[in-house]
Amino acid sequence: MSRLKLGVLLSGRGSNLRVLIAAANDPAYPAKIVSVISDRPEAPGLAYARTARLPAVAIPHRDRVFFAAEVAGLLREHRVELVCLAGFMRILDAAFVESWRDRMVNIHPSLLPAFPGLHPQRQALAAGVRFTGCTVHFVRPEVDAGPIIAQAIVATRPDDDEASLSARILRIEHRLYPLTVRLIAEGRVRVVAHKVEIDGWQAPKISALNPREPRRMPSARVVGVGL
Ligand code: GRF
Repeated sequence: MSRLKLGVLLSGRGSNLRVLIAAANDPAYPAKIVSVISDRPEAPGLAYARTARLPAVAIPHRDRVFFAAEVAGLLREHRVELVCLAGFMRILDAAFVESWRDRMVNIHPSLLPAFPGLHPQRQALAAGVRFTGCTVHFVRPEVDAGPIIAQAIVATRPDDDEASLSARILRIEHRLYPLTVRLIAEGRVRVVAHKVEIDGWQAPKISALNPREPRRMPSARVVGVGL
């Protein structure tokens, strides 16, 4: 089996990189990471990539076009086939993004198209939404836009703050990103007229209310004697 070659771009913590590395450590996973690039030399994700013995390079962001040219060169060198943005905090050069059309994905901690940009969890709480979540989408030059591949939902709680909500969303990001990359690597994902089609797509049979309905008390008749 030839595994899809991934390049990961990040700016910080790198927890999504970690779960992609963990997934790819299984030889049956259809993708492997061949290059990790950060715009910040001090990013913990970059250090983690090095401990995992992956080619990991910092390219300080001086200028958008220069940065894109350097990244493009590295991705070519490693024969990257899919670019995964994982907490990459810069706006990429539009021509570079176009050159990776439908071959570059991003994970964003909201149900896009709601709450693009910075602090989406804070935006969700400020708006008072009852559900939010995360989205993996193909990247377009506009920030946090592009055909949606997969989403996961998280219910907000009355006592949530940005940290608690972010932590719950992050846990589900860690399931969604490896799943989505697997579907792409299996060749099951394609863009048709700005929307994504997935071969063998199974939607979950769920719907939920938030606030939820109170648990029904057993009625006297049901618990009564002599039924
Ligand atoms: C994640 O919430 C991701 O959705 C967003 O940035 C955060 C990165 O976290 N784009 P990490 O660096 O992967 O831990």
